[in-house]
Amino acid sequence: RDGYGRARRLRMRGKVVEMFYHAYDNYMAYAFPHDELKPLTKGFTDSLSELGNLNLEHLPQDYNGSALTLVESLSSLVVLGNLTEFDRGVSWLSENLTFDVDARVNLFECNIRLLGGLISAHILAKDYSSQNKDGVYQNQLLHLAENLGSRFLPAFETPTGLPYAWINLKYGVMENETTETSTSGCGSLILEMGALSRLTGDPRYEAAALRALRKLWSMRSSLNLVGSTLDVLSGNWIEYSSGIGAGVDSFYEYLIKAYILFGSDEYWDMFHSAYLAVQKYFRHGPWYHEADIRTGEATHWQLTSLQAFWPGVQVC
Ligand SMILES: *[C@@H]1O[C@H](CO)[C@@H](O)[C@H](O)[C@H]1NC(C)=O
Ligand SMILES: *[C@@H]1O[C@H](CO)[C@@H](O)[C@H](O)[C@H]1NC(C)=O
Ligand SMILES: *[C@@H]1O[C@H](CO)[C@@H](O)[C@H](O)[C@H]1NC(C)=O
Ligand SMILES: *[C@@H]1O[C@H](CO)[C@@H](O)[C@H](O)[C@H]1NC(C)=O
Repeated sequence: RDGYGRARRLRMRGKVVEMFYHAYDNYMAYAFPHDELKPLTKGFTDSLSELGNLNLEHLPQDYNGSALTLVESLSSLVVLGNLTEFDRGVSWLSENLTFDVDARVNLFECNIRLLGGLISAHILAKDYSSQNKDGVYQNQLLHLAENLGSRFLPAFETPTGLPYAWINLKYGVMENETTETSTSGCGSLILEMGALSRLTGDPRYEAAALRALRKLWSMRSSLNLVGSTLDVLSGNWIEYSSGIGAGVDSFYEYLIKAYILFGSDEYWDMFHSAYLAVQKYFRHGPWYHEADIRTGEATHWQLTSLQAFWPGVQVC
């Protein structure tokens, strides 16, 4: 009746598993411990530090990346029931991953991918890890996550509490660093940093992310809309035109997820106000355009893949 009988579901499931191993095994064969596989050339890219840094400034010659794809694959390995491979990954990371590198990385990307990956893998390892080297999982991934999180903190040392978009993992904020960042960059930190504080008992991560989020929310227009780029020193908007896609998307996603994860009404109130404003000013039939946050008037159409998360938020 639904077109998805048992046989078809199993076939689709098998396809997903096959696709996962196709990607994972080739990453491990050709790119690991670098960040990502370049599938056409069988090369690799250290995307965390290369992002927005195409001339690879401030990168040591022998930089080998942060095994990003492995970190991001750990939770999938558990979902697929491959605890042997999961344990192997956890052991490798425990022994070999270090963040004491002279690499300028994007705080947002590093948070959602690396810190988020480590924290989720830590929670899964606590539940499932069976045959780690010493027989027991000893919170190694949490220690790595804490080490990484502590390297984020200097980014938040601004008059506004809004974090710089870029941080050098070894040296903190670089001289003459750009003070421009995006709404996503300031508003998509609370899940990982909040979880890190709850897991370690060190309140600094959650406090920094929450301060930034509150400041960001305080900058909303009288229509309850937020812009897309801003200056972290002045706390002023740079780009007043915004929508639900690039530069803003995960801000909305994190508000509702923070409410679900931490249960605080503050997140729900922010989400609810922001959501109603989006539906009122950005929505046009089934689509969403960009608008000026001061007037609510449409600026331009920009339909992108990043907007596709919105229905997911709506069914949350
Ligand atoms: C990166 O990998 C190369 C080749 O395996 C190795 O010689 C080098 O020591 C590694 N760099 C670091 C920082 O570990
Ligand atoms: C787990 O993953 C590894 C690497 O792809 C593979 O060799 C192994 O067969 C997998 N184990 C199971 C139970 O699927
Ligand atoms: C750490 O990396 C080294 C060098 O690549 C490797 O020989 C070793 O097995 C790794 N450790 C673990 C636990 O996998
Ligand atoms: C930072 O900017 C100042 C003033 O423009 C300049 O003199 C200095 O060389 C810059 N420092 C770096 C590391 O680029």
